[in-house]
Amino acid sequence: MTDSRETADTTETTRTDSSSPADQFTVTPYAVDGEIDYEKLLERFGANRLTDEQIERFPDHPLLRRRTFYAGRDVDKYLEAAAAGDPHAIVTGRGPSGPMHLGHVLPLYLAKRFQWKTGATVYIPLSDDEKFLAKDQSFDAIGEHTRENLHDILAVGFDPDRTRIVIDTADADVVYPIAVRLAKHLTPATVEAVYGEQDTVGLQFYPAVQATHLLLPQLVAGRQPTLVPIAIDQDPHVRICRDVAAKEALPVEKPGALLGRFLPSLDGPGKMSSSGDAPSIELTADPETVAETIRTHAYTGGRATIEEHRKKGGDPTVDVPFQYLRYFFESDDAELERIAADYRSGDLLSGELKELAIERITEFLDEHQRRRAELGSLEAELDPFRLTDGEQRRALERAGVPTGLDR
Ligand code: TRP
Repeated sequence: MTDSRETADTTETTRTDSSSPADQFTVTPYAVDGEIDYEKLLERFGANRLTDEQIERFPDHPLLRRRTFYAGRDVDKYLEAAAAGDPHAIVTGRGPSGPMHLGHVLPLYLAKRFQWKTGATVYIPLSDDEKFLAKDQSFDAIGEHTRENLHDILAVGFDPDRTRIVIDTADADVVYPIAVRLAKHLTPATVEAVYGEQDTVGLQFYPAVQATHLLLPQLVAGRQPTLVPIAIDQDPHVRICRDVAAKEALPVEKPGALLGRFLPSLDGPGKMSSSGDAPSIELTADPETVAETIRTHAYTGGRATIEEHRKKGGDPTVDVPFQYLRYFFESDDAELERIAADYRSGDLLSGELKELAIERITEFLDEHQRRRAELGSLEAELDPFRLTDGEQRRALERAGVPTGLDR
């Protein structure tokens, strides 16, 4: 498949289009607002809906089967390489601005499945620089979140031979020179059109850093299809990267994207946010906290009274506990269908559906937390995942940036 927008990835603006009331939502990496129309977003961003055939060709996963990841860019190139056993890479990162919650691990577990099934190389950059600039937090606080987040990332269980974890400030030797090269083509006008106005020149520069992340697997190991599975608010970074990589004529393919919907926030639709009012479920939450949070805060599709619910049934499509099961936590399609049918018929009450979600989420967190607790010292665990000297050198050479004086 060829991308019909070869060089025009960044021409679309991501800001609120006020032409009709239904279009009044904003999705950029730094602002998500309003009732998101996921189909309209594809038009705005110029990405493509995944076809049934593409979903078939990906390793089987409920996040794809049920179209939580529902769109992409240049997906076929990735699928072809994966099928042929040729090198192919995934990049999915984390902005360490706070504890990680359930929504944050979806792309990570998806990436792990891809790695397991087809041997994808996985790069996981942590943008501590971005979060320092975007949030009102000290570097100490961001550093603490970085360490905590790294425990969660390591607990997912990636293969150290095929996975690299990159931390912007700690790996600045390799990230910075490449970002500078890419920044040459990033004008303030483009940044403003794609991200909206930025408060500081730091944030204006940051897209060059994230573009670097997306090219790193190819700069380290040579040209190969790269797929970036992310929630759709991060797509602007992919578009910027595609444009600037082409302009600098680097020996890389434009990275592709696999775009996901947001895990709904517990108290209703929208993005699950750790900074908004709605509580979110952190990966370190104990079973009592999970149960308490869902029982108290989860928005349901149930009726006002039990009698009415028994008679008319509930609506799983707006029920957040059901949506959590559908997104990730109930992988068995037949079981999920049974739950939906029982809810619609009124046999299953909202409280009972909440308990099912609590059970599944607790099971998942139990496993995750067990692996997290088994980790040794962070430095020792991280070591096999860091770029080697040789890998750094090759990346700088391919990017054509001077390695300068050895330290
Ligand atoms: N900017 C992302 C966030 O705020 C984190 C991130 C950094 C990332 N580099 C990335 C995500 C590369 C995907 C791919 O969450």
